[in-house]
Amino acid sequence: MTTFAVLGSGGWGTAVAVLLAQNPAHRVRLWSAHPDHAAVLRATRENTRLLPGVRIPDSLQITSDPAEAVASADCWVTAIPTTYLRATLGRFSALRADDAPVVSLTKGLEVTTFRRPSEIIGELLKTENVAVLSGPSHAEEVARGMPTSLVVAADGALAPWVQQRFGTDRFRVYTNGDLVGVELAGALKNVIGIAAGICDGLGFGDNAKAALLTRGLVEMTRFGVAHGAEPATFHGLAGTGDLITTCFSPHGRNRRVGYRLGRGEPLDDVLAGPQVAEGVLTSRSVFERTSRSGIDAPIMTAVYEVLHNGKSPRSAVQDLMTRSQKH
Ligand code: 13P
Repeated sequence: MTTFAVLGSGGWGTAVAVLLAQNPAHRVRLWSAHPDHAAVLRATRENTRLLPGVRIPDSLQITSDPAEAVASADCWVTAIPTTYLRATLGRFSALRADDAPVVSLTKGLEVTTFRRPSEIIGELLKTENVAVLSGPSHAEEVARGMPTSLVVAADGALAPWVQQRFGTDRFRVYTNGDLVGVELAGALKNVIGIAAGICDGLGFGDNAKAALLTRGLVEMTRFGVAHGAEPATFHGLAGTGDLITTCFSPHGRNRRVGYRLGRGEPLDDVLAGPQVAEGVLTSRSVFERTSRSGIDAPIMTAVYEVLHNGKSPRSAVQDLMTRSQKH
């Protein structure tokens, strides 16, 4: 029996907990930061807002008590938005009895520190036993058993360990040794996802979208390589794969933020709401880096300017199309 503690009861945390609980050799606990939400999930066995119609199996234990969640867990799974990750893990740091592996599901970058989620986890939980699971994976599709392929990045034996325990005949997990690349790809694609939404919101067509994805991937790769990542990682599931899902899905949180901005809705209205579009803050972290380091990232810079500097989507596009010619 392998015991998993899934920390975070958003759509993705719930979907992964449901996936893991399908295996009778797994004992799964899902931790919610909110006692009221935990109580509703326990009573209804459904995450009605984020995963309507998906039954949470009775075997899956739901709690808002950190100690209960991680008691004798063989594996911790963190599904917490970057902006809450540090504070939330602070509630768990004294509960590390042994060095159980931690699988990070978060796709973002911490503002001001530029820390990747796996670095925050390592720092707070004092461990190097951290894997990153990333790739095109909308929670509602995984929870409904639709085919999904992801990539797990970790050092040594941890990647195959995760691959074996998380993989099913509907959830195929590849391994990759490039943790920095997998994690940066997952964070950066959210920024391009916002740009894709802007493109759709402005009513542009297939040509614009194709150019955006292609040039966006170039920027993601350039940025990643400058931070020690392998270029090939950006052409795999964590890069191209997740970029496609995020930029084309009508349900995607990041694309939806961009779409509403492109339609002319005020930024404050667009950002109000319970769901976290990670690309909003990631664009700020990326801008802080690119403006200091000189990495050429015009699309990600344009997204930053629209979100944080009051630039209109239309003039951002105009400036991108007319900036001085690059090879
Ligand atoms: P979006 O909700 O922006 O599409 O991001 C979800 C995701 O990362 C799917 O792989």
